[in-house]
Amino acid sequence: MDVDVILLGPPGAGKGTQAQRLVDAHGMRQLSTGDMLRAAVKAGTPVGVAAKAVMDRGELVSDEIVSALIGEELDALAPGQGAIFDGYPRTAAQAETLDRILADRQRTLAHVIELEVNEDALVERICGRYTCATCGKGYHDKYEQPKVPGTCDKCGGHEFKRRPDDNEDTVRTRMTEYRAKTAPILPIYEARGIVARVDGMADIEHVTAAIERIIAS
Ligand code: AP5
Repeated sequence: MDVDVILLGPPGAGKGTQAQRLVDAHGMRQLSTGDMLRAAVKAGTPVGVAAKAVMDRGELVSDEIVSALIGEELDALAPGQGAIFDGYPRTAAQAETLDRILADRQRTLAHVIELEVNEDALVERICGRYTCATCGKGYHDKYEQPKVPGTCDKCGGHEFKRRPDDNEDTVRTRMTEYRAKTAPILPIYEARGIVARVDGMADIEHVTAAIERIIAS
């Protein structure tokens, strides 16, 4: 599918979960700046070294760093492959840069999908999540468990990991950052008539179905 969409919502809203489903269903590419930064931290690159402490505190990494990462990833897309922006843009400056990055590549943003959630539920969602250490598929202690306990549904791996920033204190800082810097970018897209809202508190399958309806429209 060749549409470009932004998934927007606070930490734990389900952006990564739903992005993975769009990748599996449509061969779109998930562009998660969080995943890119974590890969840089793991590889010990200069970007990773600069980002680690900021991420551990739950604050935002600089606009220049994340926008450079997004530009590189967009250039690696296959012809006609749609992009799902997951966790980007997060500030007004990033939203402006994204406009430029897309225009330079003759791409158009089709939808900004806001996952509306009750913030009280997010700490539980985030503190209960984990991923397969081999393929990265996401799970949750309560909401999305592997079909065979201890075995990844996707790749059969047996090792799982949790993120260092998935603790209550850091999550609260991430939510504060979202309210202060990310939620205010919504009006930019509302003015263009491309914002759609989905009830992110519905179960995962219902959220997926609602997103599918939006991107098919
Ligand atoms: P990032 O990795 O982007 O984290 P985030 O935005 O805080 O979002 P999360 O990944 O925590 O949540 P999600 O919405 O993807 O939820 P998920 O689908 O996993 O960023 C991390 C850090 O990197 C930032 O703090 C910042 O420092 C830095 N950074 C990244 N991008 C940046 C940028 N652009 N600019 C500056 N800094 C940047 O779902 C959570 C759990 O809930 C899962 O276990 C899932 O199974 C479960 N779940 C999902 N949906 C449902 C549902 N409907 N019902 C029940 N359970 C559900």
